[in-house]
Amino acid sequence: MRQPLVAGNWKMNGSLASVRELLAGLKAGIDDVKVAEVAVCPPAVFIPEVQAQLEGTPIAWGGQDLSVHESGAYTGEIAGPMLTDFGCKYVIIGHSERRTYHGETDQLVAEKFTAARKAGLVPLFCIGETQEERESGITEEVVARQIDAVIEHCGVDMLGEGVIAYEPVWAIGTGLTATPEQAQEVHAFIRQRIAQSNAEVAEGLRILYGGSMKPGNAAELLANPDIDGGLIGGASLKAEDFLGICTAAND
Ligand code: 13P
Repeated sequence: MRQPLVAGNWKMNGSLASVRELLAGLKAGIDDVKVAEVAVCPPAVFIPEVQAQLEGTPIAWGGQDLSVHESGAYTGEIAGPMLTDFGCKYVIIGHSERRTYHGETDQLVAEKFTAARKAGLVPLFCIGETQEERESGITEEVVARQIDAVIEHCGVDMLGEGVIAYEPVWAIGTGLTATPEQAQEVHAFIRQRIAQSNAEVAEGLRILYGGSMKPGNAAELLANPDIDGGLIGGASLKAEDFLGICTAAND
C-alpha cells in the first residue's frame, strides 16, 4: 500500500508574518489528517522558522531546489547538506518553473536527483508536458524522456527512493486542472514505463498530481488507483485549503 503524500510548494511567496500565520493554521488542523503524509516546501529563507514551528509535529518540510554541488564558490546556490542540516526531508527537483525560467535540462535534473539522495533527501521529482506538447500528442514521449534521464543517470533503484510529481505545465496556476481521467491515464503510463525497468519499484513509487489542485477537486483526483497524492501550489498558501486537500485523502 502506498501512503498518500500531500506536499505544499509555496514557491516564492510569503513573509515571516504570513508564514507564521500559515504554520499556526496547519498545526491547529493537522490532527484531522488521518491518512496522508503531509509536507511543506517554503522558500529557503523561511526553512529555519518552519523547522522551529513544525519540529515534533507530523508535518515534514523540504526545499524547493538544490545545487548539484556539495559546497564551494556557487553564489546564490543551496547545497543538499544545508537542507538536511535544517531538518528537511524532501526537496523539489525539476519543477517546470525551474526548467523554463532557469534552463534546467533533463540531465541537470538527473544530477540534482543524485545530489539530493547523497544528502539523504527524498527528491520530489517533477515531470510534465506543456500545452503545446499535449496538443501535438507527445505527452507520453515527453514524460518518458524526463523519467528515462533519471533512470539512466541514477538507476531505477535510486528513482524508487524518490517521489514523482506529474504536473502538466498547462494546469499549473491556471485553474485548468487535468480531469481525473486525463491524470490517471498519464500516471498509469508513468508507472508502466518504470515497470519496464523494475516492476517492484514501479509498484512502490508514489506518483503525485500537481496543477490547480484544490479542496473541491482533490477527492476525485485522489480516488484514482495511480494518483498517490498531490503537489499543491496556490492552495497550499491557505491553511484551510491545504488541510482540505490533505483530508480529502482520508476517504
Ligand atoms: P498550482 O497548484 O498553483 O497550480 O501549482 C502547482 C505546482 O506547480 C506545484 O508544484
